[in-house]
Amino acid sequence: MMRKQPILVTCGLPYTNGPCHIGHLRTYVPADFYVRCLRHMGEEVVFICGSDNHGTPIVVSAEEAKISPREMSERYHAHFAETFGRMMVQFDHFGMTDDPTNHARTRKIVSRLIENGHVYSRVIQQSYCPQCKRFLPDRYVEGLCPHCGTPARGDECDQGCGRHLEPGEIREPVCMVCKTKAELRDQEHYFFRLGEFKDFLLGYLENLQGTLNARNYALGWVREGLRDWCITRTLDWGVKFPGRDDLVVYVWVDAPIGYISFTEEWANEAGKDWRDLWCGDNRVTHFIGGDIIYHHCIFWPALLKGAGYGTPHAIVASGMVKVDDHKFSKSRGYVVWTNEDYLDRGLPADYLRYYLLSYTNHTKDLNFSWKVFSERINNELVNTLGNFVYRSLYFAHREFGGIPDIPVRPEVLARIKETIDSVTRAVNQYDFKVAVDEMMALAAYGNNYIQTNAPWKLIKTDRDSACQVIKDCIVLVNALALLFEPAIPQKSREIWDMVGNTVPIEKTALDSALSDLPARPLKAPHPVFQKLEDSFIREMDDLLRKRVKEAGERVRKTETVSIEEFSRLDIRTGRIVSAEPVPKSRKLLALQVDIGSEIRQVVAGIAPFYRPEDLVGKNVVIVANLQPARIFGIESRGMILAAGDSASLLMPFKDVPPGTKIR
Ligand code: MSP
Ligand code: ZN
Repeated sequence: MMRKQPILVTCGLPYTNGPCHIGHLRTYVPADFYVRCLRHMGEEVVFICGSDNHGTPIVVSAEEAKISPREMSERYHAHFAETFGRMMVQFDHFGMTDDPTNHARTRKIVSRLIENGHVYSRVIQQSYCPQCKRFLPDRYVEGLCPHCGTPARGDECDQGCGRHLEPGEIREPVCMVCKTKAELRDQEHYFFRLGEFKDFLLGYLENLQGTLNARNYALGWVREGLRDWCITRTLDWGVKFPGRDDLVVYVWVDAPIGYISFTEEWANEAGKDWRDLWCGDNRVTHFIGGDIIYHHCIFWPALLKGAGYGTPHAIVASGMVKVDDHKFSKSRGYVVWTNEDYLDRGLPADYLRYYLLSYTNHTKDLNFSWKVFSERINNELVNTLGNFVYRSLYFAHREFGGIPDIPVRPEVLARIKETIDSVTRAVNQYDFKVAVDEMMALAAYGNNYIQTNAPWKLIKTDRDSACQVIKDCIVLVNALALLFEPAIPQKSREIWDMVGNTVPIEKTALDSALSDLPARPLKAPHPVFQKLEDSFIREMDDLLRKRVKEAGERVRKTETVSIEEFSRLDIRTGRIVSAEPVPKSRKLLALQVDIGSEIRQVVAGIAPFYRPEDLVGKNVVIVANLQPARIFGIESRGMILAAGDSASLLMPFKDVPPGTKIR
């Protein structure tokens, strides 16, 4: 029989320029869950990740912190490694894209692409800052998205349409550091002939395994047409482009190659060959968030194909995590930090893992709110699972000193088998919510079983029947511990130990839950799940609100306007020719204002403060290119500037003719 090679599971590599937040965890927790499930199902799995150290955001952050990008990367690399440990996300290897293995592998792959004729050079117009005297790759430039017009930074339209932006494409480019208007200068760059991979990608994506969102988005983009892809940047930090010491490869080239390099590093340690996992008919499965589907389903397979490597078997893409129904945003305060806001407050990793897995289907957006979080935990983990486990073990210990000596009822084993089958099916379809819901349904079945059979009553009249009920419950508790292990590994292990198991839970096959348990003495159990108190949750919620409020104030304070933006306002002096009250309005006056080139009608809310006749002949200041608006049926084309609650009108100090530009 041909032995299948192990499944290689990877996770999107975290950037090393900021701490872990719960948005990140939507990649790592489901992947860890998947890996643990596969191992219980008897699959051999290698679980690989690492940190993504290159790219301009890291250079920018390091400059701000006055440390080297390497130092910055090492700090956050250690931070992510530690946080993953605390969250029980257990990789077999966690590498760094700036380590030598990845430099070497990237240069090898890029050289191969060049040899195979997939790369050409071209002179392009690249943004250049005349003030800072440097080219502005990616994050160094700000402007407008050429596709949708939304303000965008660098290489992606992250506030708008989400598209990848090529160098030089951003409209009205401004230097991110000094806000000077960027110039366009000629520069030679290298391009990957992505367009030539259209047919290959159409075929590849048709058969791609994983979640449908990944496949379908990517197919849509390929059908729209592919443009060649600029794969070099003018930067010191990164992997040097072969033959050009002044250029590095674009971070989205060397980052996914990290998946291979980290497999190599793992294989060297483990005495294995990385090629077994990557070449031929591989089972490489990438877990990512929905924001990086383009990179993984289009760039990455084309790169691999072009360099003669095998292409990934499956791409599993999650929906995005939101906070209180807002898109994640550190600057707006919509963020929940994994350590500071969660783990450091003593909250169990397992509660958050459970919420992330069970809140909604993997491909949908997931909203985090403290209120819903506590409701789900208290109703499901504490009241359903926790209650059943504790009551069963408590009663078994008190009445029988442990697991009673009577065979489990076959119908109970049949019910467990049903759950194992549906969990297996769901996991194979990357339907993690369905899998966890099936587990919780078994806990509800157990709860119902103990409630309706009421062994605490039964024991007074019929000790044998009570013994039977309790035995059935303990077998269910044991099955629940094993089933839930991938979702809530720490709590499951505690339950596993209380049932008196000596074999480690991670090493136990799911099917072992289908056998009866031997009679054995047990120690007194303890409750495993603690309720989340309302007062604590309110405190956490207040903290989040406060952060959002303060962020809003900070954004308002520091939002600056460039001189170019300011000069788009047409502010001039004007002379009021006439003023009349607007019928049916108490506050408004309709003013005719001489602005030099014409007489403008402007509606102003100043009736409570001025008599119309006092205004005629006065020189005022007007914004002349404000979008026209209809107010009480009257067109207003401009805005008179006034200060404060009593609408004190701004007036020129010296006499100037109407229409004098203000600058
Ligand atoms: N460095 C890239 C990935 C390179 S993979 C070759 C990156 N880094 S990241 O730090 O921004 O994100 C790491 C992982 O977390 C990615 O899988 C990303 O999709 C995921 N998420 C980060 N924020 C997220 C949400 N708010 N919601 C869901 N997942 C998100 O992207
Ligand atoms: Zn856009």
